[in-house]
Amino acid sequence: MSDIVIISGSPSDFSGTGKVLDYLGRLLEREHFSIRHIAVKDVPPEDLIYGNFHSAVIKKISCDIQGAAGVIVGSPVYKAAYSGALKTLLDLLPQDAFKNIPVLPLMTGGSRGHLLAIEFSLKPLIASLKGKSLQGLYFLDSQIDKQQKNPIIDEESLLRTKKQLHEFIEDIKKSNRLAAAL
Ligand SMILES: Cc1cc2nc3c(=O)[nH]c(=O)nc-3n(C[C@H](O)[C@H](O)[C@H](O)COP(=O)(O)O)c2cc1C
Repeated sequence: MSDIVIISGSPSDFSGTGKVLDYLGRLLEREHFSIRHIAVKDVPPEDLIYGNFHSAVIKKISCDIQGAAGVIVGSPVYKAAYSGALKTLLDLLPQDAFKNIPVLPLMTGGSRGHLLAIEFSLKPLIASLKGKSLQGLYFLDSQIDKQQKNPIIDEESLLRTKKQLHEFIEDIKKSNRLAAAL
């Protein structure tokens, strides 16, 4: 079981969300957390589209999330909300899949105008699964370079990211879930 589960809701093969999440995973590994990355694009599409609650892949994902000490949920903004692909995955999880788990929400978008998609779409979704959301991170496409090892090229966003990660780690430690995750 991994300490932290990182979920990418992007269906894209060359995903900015995925690149940022990979980078956050590496920063957390440096702090000695073990990480499991889950990407909706790697889940069998027929399980997602036909709502296969009995899928072995979905059951394993569900088990890993419920045993984790912290979760990061990332999604691109699609039509002013999280991606439909992310929703098809989260729909298959138990109602309280994020219960008592600190969750860091993260979104990437092309427009500053959809900054509040975190507040109006992603956080309510996390709350419906009983997760405790941190403030969250929003990246504009212009603040990311998918070719770079550290894809966050905007200084201010990078500072904000490191601050949020620090708070995420503090919340994980306070939640006492680390022992269970080991
Ligand atoms: C189908 C689709 C819908 C999108 N809708 C929005 C939107 O409503 N608002 C926005 O700011 N960006 C929108 N975008 C831009 C993406 O959110 C943005 O490029 C994001 O970084 C893509 O992330 P990814 O590379 O991880 O898939 C949309 C992109 C696509 C492909």
